[in-house]
Order: sequence, then C-alpha cells, then structure tokens
Amino acid sequence: MTAPISRTLVKDARNADAPSDDILLQGWVRTRRDAKTFSFIELGDGSCLKGMQVIVNAALPDYDALMHRSATGASVRVRGKLVASQGAGQKWEVLASEYEVVGDADATYPLQKKGHTPEFLREIAHLRPRSNLFGAVFRVRSRLAYAIHQFFQERGFFYVHTPIITASDCEGAGEMFGVSVLDPAKPPRNPDGSVDYTKDFFGKKTSLTVSGQLEGETFACALSNIYTFGPTFRAENSNTTRHAAEFWMVEPEAAFLDLDGDMQLAEDFVKHLVRDAKTHCAEELEFFGKFTDKGLAERLDFVLERPFQRCSYTQAIEILTTAASAGRKWEHPVAWGENLQSEHERYLSEEHFKCPVTVYNYPRSLKPFYLKVNPPDAAGRETVCAMDLLVPGIGEIIGGSQREERLDVLRENMARQGLAEKDYSWYVDLRRYGTVPHSGFGLGFERMLMFVTGVSNIRDVIPYARTPGNAEF
Ligand code: 4AD
Ligand code: MG
Repeated sequence: MTAPISRTLVKDARNADAPSDDILLQGWVRTRRDAKTFSFIELGDGSCLKGMQVIVNAALPDYDALMHRSATGASVRVRGKLVASQGAGQKWEVLASEYEVVGDADATYPLQKKGHTPEFLREIAHLRPRSNLFGAVFRVRSRLAYAIHQFFQERGFFYVHTPIITASDCEGAGEMFGVSVLDPAKPPRNPDGSVDYTKDFFGKKTSLTVSGQLEGETFACALSNIYTFGPTFRAENSNTTRHAAEFWMVEPEAAFLDLDGDMQLAEDFVKHLVRDAKTHCAEELEFFGKFTDKGLAERLDFVLERPFQRCSYTQAIEILTTAASAGRKWEHPVAWGENLQSEHERYLSEEHFKCPVTVYNYPRSLKPFYLKVNPPDAAGRETVCAMDLLVPGIGEIIGGSQREERLDVLRENMARQGLAEKDYSWYVDLRRYGTVPHSGFGLGFERMLMFVTGVSNIRDVIPYARTPGNAEF
C-alpha cells in the first residue's frame, strides 16, 4: 500500500495548472462506460458542477468485480496520476493506480442518468443535492450566504442574533406558529375558558418569530448599523411558488438612515449579490441559463447596469389605473388604499418599468404599527415611509421602511392597531431614550435565490421546504 495522501476536491483537480503524479479523489460515480481494456468513470464530489474523468485500466487487480460494483451512485476512492486529457471536453483526467468501491449503489438508486423533473426530485429531497440542478442551487445558496455577511461586514454592520422564540408579532398579521409545552388535549384554562399561558413554559404566549426587526432596532439604536440573517416562520396558508412557512430573512437596520438611504442600501445590496454570483458561481449560472431560464444572463446583466426605478404607491396606482383604461384586466381591484397584488407588482416591474422598481409611501392603513407616518398628501390621504422592491419574474423580494421615531405618533399607531403598550414597552423605550430616525428592510433569501438562479419554485431553493401540508424530512 502506498503512503496516505490527503484528498483533492474535483473542483481543484479540474482547475489544476500542472499535472500531478499522485492525487486522491473521493466521490460518487456519475456514469461508467466500459471499453475493451479500460473503463471511463465520471466521478463527482459535489465541489463543482462537472465531474472528473477517471480511467481505470483492466490490468488493475479485481478489475471486473470493481467495475461491476461501480454503478451510478456508488461511492469510490481513486488514487492515480492527473494527466492532460486526450479526449475533448475536459482539460485533465485521472489514470487510476488504486481504485476502491467504498459504498455500493444498486439499480434502485433513483438518480440514474436521465432528466428528472423538479417535482420528482422534490420527493427525494434527501438525494436531490446529488443532481446537477440541485448541487448548483445549493452551491449558489452557500456562496450568497457568505456574500451577505461580506456586504454588511465590509460596511461596518454588526451581525446580531435576534431570538427565534418571541412574544411579539412584528408584522401584526397574526400568522405566527405557537410555541407551547402545554398539553393540547387538556391545557390549563382561565375562568373564561381561554388557555392560561401563564402556566406555559415562558409564563406567556410565545411563537416562532416572523421577523427579527423589532429586536434588531434595539441593537441599531446602540451599535448604529446591524443586520440579522436567520430563519423566519409564517403560518400563512398561501400555497404559492413564492411562499414558504420557514424561510431565511436578512434584515439590516441602521440608525440615522432615512427612507431614501434605505432604498439605496437595498439596491446596492441586491446588486452586490448578483455581481458576487456572477463572479463566483459562473459555472452554475451558465448551467441555469441553459436549463432553467434562457434569459438569465441577460436579465442579471440588465439589473447590474441600470439604476433601479422608484415610484410612489400613488403613482403605481395611477399606472395600474391607466393600464386598466387601456384594456388591461385586473383580477384584483386597483384603487388607492388597496394592497398591490402579485399581478400588479409583476406588471410594474415586468411590463411598465421592465426593471427592478422600488414602490414607496404606502397607505397608512395597509402597514404595521412601526412605520413612520408621512404628512397627509394634498387630498388628505395618509401614507407611511414603506418601500417594497419588486423584481421581474418574482415580484416583492424586499420589504422595508423608515421606522416611526416619535413617541406620540408611535403610541397612536399602536392604539389604532389595538396593541397594548405594556407588551412592547421595551420597543417604546427606544423612542423615550435618545430616539433617532432609523430604517431597515428584510430581504427574503429564497426569493433572492430564485431571482439569481431562475428557479421558479421556492421549494427548489431551500434544502427541505416547509409549506402548508408538507414537513417531510
Ligand atoms: O415584507 P416583509 O413581511 O417585511 C418584514 O418582515 C419586515 N419586518 C422587514 C424589515 O423591515 N426588517 O418580509 C420581508 C421579505 C419579503 O419581501 C419577502 O422577500 C420575504 O421576506 N418573505 C417571504 N419569503 C418566503 N416565504 C414567505 N412566506 C415570505 N414572507 C415574506
Ligand atoms: Mg412585504
């Protein structure tokens, strides 16, 4: 037996700038092709999209038995020489001098080489990262998670870990998953029959967080610039291609930042992520351009080259109303005071502006309690300093705002929305002690990944999707 050496990843072997006399690869057989006196094995280890061609000579001990066991999916260990490839399609290949099957895979292995639909692969989510598509998606996911930290750290933002279990409902939409250790069959009850949460683990009703923003604000009002990046949970019963019950959100929050600065930060951030993916995931993006979205490269370049458009909510309603007068049919009503629906958001970014667009200053009645209230417009209508970034193909990927820093207005907002000040006293304190204008936003990480990869279903950019009726794996 030759002396042990450390493993080389296929990615590094493919990028080698010189041949090598002794190299060790470990991975899984993607395909095997037998010739008369040798076999070609394409070995992949997940480090990059492509595999390494390995040539196993029939003169190696146990050749027949080893090749018989080297079916698609089997794990193998190969030691040999890295040499310039004779064949087209790859720069290097490996001539095996030692070959070992580590773990067999029989004919039931579901990822035999042929095109599988994303729907089928979702059912075998534990094996799908071994496919080209999902390997590529999850390498991009990893890289962009890194790029998120890089973007904020380089700008002096501190990473804050806000709690996952919380007693406050940031978005006020009542879409929270409860966290309780009470026996659901016989919980302790108050005299009026309601559940007595003072007997529960935390002594009060708690849930999984829908957003780290409120706690993030407390840190921005101390460290100036912060961001969170973590899992977020929403019990919305929307079975769409863009909603997950568990998703990851990035939430920067900055003191002394107004809505304009917030919109600019969001634009710079999105462009940074697109640029980073183009630089560090070029192979993956080329693959997506071939197989998931033919127009991907062009769309991403377009995003980088132009400033994003900005348009107030009131202007957006005018654009949508004008479109309706010109014959455009809307499924959901368009009127000042109504929410923009996905069809409206997509029209604005895909057809009207043909570009990412930030819609700002939404009606006060549509938004949570924490948003800064604008002076009424000429028609006496009230708006708040909210902004949503809409992108072609997806719609909203960012929601953010300038927060209400005035104590009296915040209290009035809370009263309007039926929130008890005692439940948010710590949040209100920020306005009592050294209040400052401050702003932030939330980027849905999965939606950003859909945008960058062209993958059209959120279930396919998260390792194990949690959606209504589905918590497999
Ligand atoms: O617009 P949202 O609800 O904003 C907030 O939660 C604010 N507290 C953020 C802040 O200002 N710090 O959510 C932010 C983003 C959305 O734009 C969307 O990209 C994503 O989170 N998102 C979802 N992604 C996947 N599945 C869901 N169910 C999502 N709900 C929101
Ligand atoms: Mg939103």
